[in-house]
Amino acid sequence: MKIVATLLLASVLAAPAVQAAGDPVRGEQLHQDCLGCHGTELYLPPKAKVKTLAALKKETERWNDRMNPKFTRQEIEDIVAWMNRDFYRFPQ
Ligand code: HEC
Repeated sequence: MKIVATLLLASVLAAPAVQAAGDPVRGEQLHQDCLGCHGTELYLPPKAKVKTLAALKKETERWNDRMNPKFTRQEIEDIVAWMNRDFYRFPQ
């Protein structure tokens, strides 16, 4: 009985972490909508100015204000996960 309770607790604790993490595959698809103003060349040297993962998230939220309809928080996480996996490569 104790083991079952421990396993249950572990999965409950693990769930939010899984949800918060972005899905880069989905992010790449969503990012199609961002390509109206610029391509991905902005995410690579020498053009890229963003220096941290937190700044990348902020920048994405900032540009999301211009989107109509806007991306949800989860969708922003997904897009950030994709940009970081394929371009910026900041440590998580
Ligand atoms: C209205 C036009 C527009 C839209 C829509 C737009 N962007 Fe941008 N974005 C820009 C401009 C302009 C810059 C600044 C370029 C510069 O600093 O030279 C920029 C900069 C960025 C940067 C910073 C790059 C760096 O490292 O310097 C990121 C990241 C970014 N955009 C992501 C996105 C994402 C993700 C979306 C979709 C949610 C998006 N943008 C939609 C115009 C746009």
